[in-house]
Amino acid sequence: MGCCRHLWRSRRLWRSRFSLVLLAAAFALSYAFFVAPSGPQAECPVVSPFFPLLTLEAIRKKRSTSVSPGGFYRPPDCRARHRTAIVVPYRKRLTHLGALLDHLHPFLQRQQLHYRIYLVEQWGNGTFNKGRLYNAGVREALRDATWSCIIFHDVDLLPEDDRNTYGCHQDKPSHLSVAIDKFAYRLYYPQAFGGVVAMTPDQFRKTNGYSNQFWGWGQEDDNLWQRVILSGMQAARPPEAIARYKMIKHERDAGNERNPRNVDLLRRTKLDWSSDGFNSSTYKLLSKELEPLYTHLMVDVGKKAPPYLRGNTTTPA
Ligand code: UDP
Ligand code: BGC
Ligand code: MN
Repeated sequence: MGCCRHLWRSRRLWRSRFSLVLLAAAFALSYAFFVAPSGPQAECPVVSPFFPLLTLEAIRKKRSTSVSPGGFYRPPDCRARHRTAIVVPYRKRLTHLGALLDHLHPFLQRQQLHYRIYLVEQWGNGTFNKGRLYNAGVREALRDATWSCIIFHDVDLLPEDDRNTYGCHQDKPSHLSVAIDKFAYRLYYPQAFGGVVAMTPDQFRKTNGYSNQFWGWGQEDDNLWQRVILSGMQAARPPEAIARYKMIKHERDAGNERNPRNVDLLRRTKLDWSSDGFNSSTYKLLSKELEPLYTHLMVDVGKKAPPYLRGNTTTPA
């Protein structure tokens, strides 16, 4: 019996040793699969090497192989159906500009367009005037070539669908940014006409362009909508499912605060539209540089008139 008890004990010992070994093996295996690093052992750097892609210089390196100086392109294998000038009003939105250029060049090339991107920068720290920048941008773009289409483009809007063609409808000015993520991808109101708009040069002349009087944020786009109607045209929109955009998130810019006076000006559109616009636009072109990914126009649009002069058009000093 003594011998058997001994045997029994040692068998228990072996059994527990065996389960210990099993446990260790299971532990080692799961460590190897789930915990131990696979692939390169070196830790990733604190600052990712991909971050510089956000600088304009890095985006230029990535994109300028296909684009000519000035942000110009034409398809190599066929004649483009649209010759499009993209005009972007701009001041102090460098990261947005990088994202736009990185996104827009391949987008426009997939659409086989003949195009050029114009960045119209407002010089100085005065109140922003988007309408004046657009009028100046169109005037300068038309000096360069006979564009069949002009696209008026906020710097922070990225088109999501390649079927949203950056060309013009022959009879109707088009509102292209119908469904923006910021507005839950729905048209924000029936007369919305801001963000991204396409017009032929003739349509633009017919509306007399943008008003020069809307300083600061708001209503210059509603004013353009009224100009389209007053000049006897109708606006077109691509379907909501196609005209989709992401707006890069941002705060309201310093120097572009909401201007309550613009609401009053909007009520006067019918009286003012034929005398205030593209035909009365004044500006000073301070420089024109052919950057690798865009044509850079630096423009002095003048200053907001002091209260006693309000209503009169100002000219740059
Ligand atoms: N913008 C700019 N710098 C400014 C203010 C405006 O570049 O300081 C340009 C830019 O193209 C921008 C557009 O004007 O997308 C419209 O302004 P914002 O984006 O503030 O208007 P939103 O449509 O977002 O209300
Ligand atoms: C303003 C427009 C603006 C729109 C969307 C409207 O109330 O009048 O200028 O584009 O809101 O933000
Ligand atoms: Mn915006």
